[in-house]
Amino acid sequence: MNLFLAPIQGMTIAGYRNAFARHFGNIDAYYTPFISSSEVDKVNNLLLKDILPEYNDPAVKLVPQLLGNDGAQFKAFACAISDIGYHEINWNIGCPYPTVTKKKKGSGILQHPDMIKKVLDTACSDSSYTVTVKMRLGWDKLEEGMRVMDVLNDYPLGGVIIHARTGIQMYEGHVDLEEFETLAASCKHEVTYNGDIFTHDDFLRISSRLPFIKNFMLGRGALSDPFLPTVIKGQTVSDANKISIVREFHNEIFNYYKCKLSGDKHLCDKMKEFWYYMHVHLDKDGKYMKKIKKCHRTSEYLELVNQIFHSNS
Ligand SMILES: Cc1cc2nc3c(=O)[nH]c(=O)nc-3n(C[C@H](O)[C@H](O)[C@H](O)COP(=O)(O)O)c2cc1C
Repeated sequence: MNLFLAPIQGMTIAGYRNAFARHFGNIDAYYTPFISSSEVDKVNNLLLKDILPEYNDPAVKLVPQLLGNDGAQFKAFACAISDIGYHEINWNIGCPYPTVTKKKKGSGILQHPDMIKKVLDTACSDSSYTVTVKMRLGWDKLEEGMRVMDVLNDYPLGGVIIHARTGIQMYEGHVDLEEFETLAASCKHEVTYNGDIFTHDDFLRISSRLPFIKNFMLGRGALSDPFLPTVIKGQTVSDANKISIVREFHNEIFNYYKCKLSGDKHLCDKMKEFWYYMHVHLDKDGKYMKKIKKCHRTSEYLELVNQIFHSNS
């Protein structure tokens, strides 16, 4: 069984992935947040910064992700990415945000299997990399996903990750395991399940409902409880150790952003995103989160963090 860390734009960037791997691990591959392949004329290292080897621990298996709807641009980016040492390139056709979908990108392309075919004709014409796809059940219905899968089955893809929601659902409502099963059964590539695994029980329920699935991608669940992959892989960590490990992880992320961002406000704002996920288990009633949200000074922020860890130890 393989566990993958889902891309979460703004969160799972190089510093986060490196720290996650060092403190928690048990992730077989880390998918990067998308790099847009269509906003520029030429690939440059600034766009690829997050995946450059100098910022990424070589022990962390990384899969760069591209977002776009033009095969030539995809291929140009994919070749540049393969030149720096990556052999799997993931194509995002699942992003549900309107700024993306109204341009027929992300899940906005799921209603256009003809466009997907055109992109893949070019994207898959270079053997220096393998394309994998991250998609949803459809834009607003399964039939769309099924038509897309007919197209995907014609190409030598390395695998398909399916988030078990439609595009219009965004992140709301329930994942649909029955529709996932139908779509996965129509796929001739290796399938990865993604969606709403927040606890070990969620994993046991979903994996026993889908016994043919060997790959699972964890997103918000792993960001809220970074020990989740460890527990799923059958290892235990004592509660006493957990808090000190999370504290070290927090400090590493904090120091990473302290070097990158200028000014207390930017740093506090960034750390709010970290606690948006992390408070779920460490600040269950949201008492500290409320204060962190209002915080603009790092001295005040660090005092609150101190209180959170103290209240959990
Ligand atoms: C804030 C946010 C940013 C995301 N950014 C990306 C992204 O860059 N690429 C991508 O493929 N999916 C992205 N996703 C979707 C996740 O990778 C994942 O598919 C989704 O959260 C469902 O999995 P989960 O229920 O395990 O979190 C994002 C999700 C959220 C909430």
